[in-house]
Amino acid sequence: MKISASFLSSKDVPNDLRKLDQTDVDYVHLDFMDGRFVPNKTMPFSEMKHIGEFTNKRLDIHLMVQEPSKYIPYFAELNAEYITFHVEVEEDILKDLEMIKNYSIKCGLAIKPNTKVSSLVPYLPFIDEIIIMSVEPGMGGQEFIPETVNKIREVRALLNSYPVNCIINVDGGVSDKTISLCKEADMVVSGSYIVNSSDFQEKITSLRNISML
Ligand code: DX5
Ligand code: ZN
Repeated sequence: MKISASFLSSKDVPNDLRKLDQTDVDYVHLDFMDGRFVPNKTMPFSEMKHIGEFTNKRLDIHLMVQEPSKYIPYFAELNAEYITFHVEVEEDILKDLEMIKNYSIKCGLAIKPNTKVSSLVPYLPFIDEIIIMSVEPGMGGQEFIPETVNKIREVRALLNSYPVNCIINVDGGVSDKTISLCKEADMVVSGSYIVNSSDFQEKITSLRNISML
């Protein structure tokens, strides 16, 4: 299972990014919020764009924004493996997915805890990643919603029934206590469990070890 580290809860982003760079974490998960799709706002792109000065890790970008088309061209400048936005947005989703693909970046859709899995169906042939939110999007450090287990299972069954190549990522509240609930996922995002600790590699290794049990 791949591990993506979120620095949303970091109190010293440059330093924590440098520390993550020294670990074997697979991706750095970049959370971006516009204060509209979710109540909170993260630092603006003008600051976020400096992330590459502190880490060489590939980015797994999670846009919690109402208008992805406004932000995709900016985030596409960064070292992104994936750019994901939410299936709940009111924009033309296929157009936005295509916009990401045109930068040769993998595209994904994120789904909130109360959104039906069936809302993803029209987009399955076009996406490389599904982020299943295991907390309400908007802030780090929340508790993992246990019903996510059923949702992961449901999405896995859906993917098995289509000839598509799409990974499942689970985001929110993932720690040594909850990662065993994500067994059927291909990747997990873990934020505060890693960045609020004094030894990032130890936490990442413990996630890897438990996920293999
Ligand atoms: C929540 C974010 C998550 C979150 C992960 O809106 O999308 O990426 O910050 O952090 P933890 O692991 O602290 O829930
Ligand atoms: Zn996220």
